[in-house]
Amino acid sequence: MEKGKLLYEGKAKQLFETDDPEIIWVEYLNQATALNGAKKDQISGKGELNNRITGIIFDFLRKKGIKNHFIKHLSANEQLIQSVEIIPLEVVVRNVAAGSFSKRLAVSEGTPLKAPIVEFYYKNDELDDPMVNEDHIQFLKLATTDELIQLRQMALAVDQALVGLFDSIDIQLIDFKLEFGRRKDGSLLLADEISPDTCRLWDKKTKEHLDKDIYRRDLGDIVPVYQEVLNRLEKRGE
Ligand code: TMP
Repeated sequence: MEKGKLLYEGKAKQLFETDDPEIIWVEYLNQATALNGAKKDQISGKGELNNRITGIIFDFLRKKGIKNHFIKHLSANEQLIQSVEIIPLEVVVRNVAAGSFSKRLAVSEGTPLKAPIVEFYYKNDELDDPMVNEDHIQFLKLATTDELIQLRQMALAVDQALVGLFDSIDIQLIDFKLEFGRRKDGSLLLADEISPDTCRLWDKKTKEHLDKDIYRRDLGDIVPVYQEVLNRLEKRGE
């Protein structure tokens, strides 16, 4: 498979054409950003870690019946994915209060939620990714009513699967962000990445952060922490 021209450059990944229009070549970058890009650093090793963690998680989810765009790893920091039209929504699922939820609603970080809470954010850098409800999504024509039902169902299925996966490696899944894409036939696929950049992961025993909050909150070096998540996931696979 040939790597073609650059199609899209995001904050943490570059997407390239291939000789197959249905397949995209992804390169995970060593760039970390927070505060909608206002905080930005190069962190050697981060791209490889997120590429490998995302592949393991997407393979796991596929085995659990959750269709996603991951095809295979190409190298330490590259993978092939199915081409989809990304729905401009970030779908956040929360199991425990933290981050913007805690701030906005004055609920202490670490408070368990009785049932998972699903939130939608409009992917729009100029607007700073505002939270939107289902009426807003329909008004803006971001997704259809039927797609919204599927998005919620798929997000909750991912939550159930990942809570179990992380629990088995002594990690509590606090919350995470998903993105979805449409295939040509209109079906939806889980897309983008699932990594410590896009999840809050707390060590079950020590409650230490094993995720990007280390970077967002200037708590230290993310590389050994992401490596720890990868090590636990790989050990589980043995
Ligand atoms: P939040 O508490 O800042 O709203 O974040 C909720 C979850 O979503 C957390 O696991 C981090 C993840 N997330 C992203 O992956 N990308 C984003 O742009 C934001 C705002 C959150």
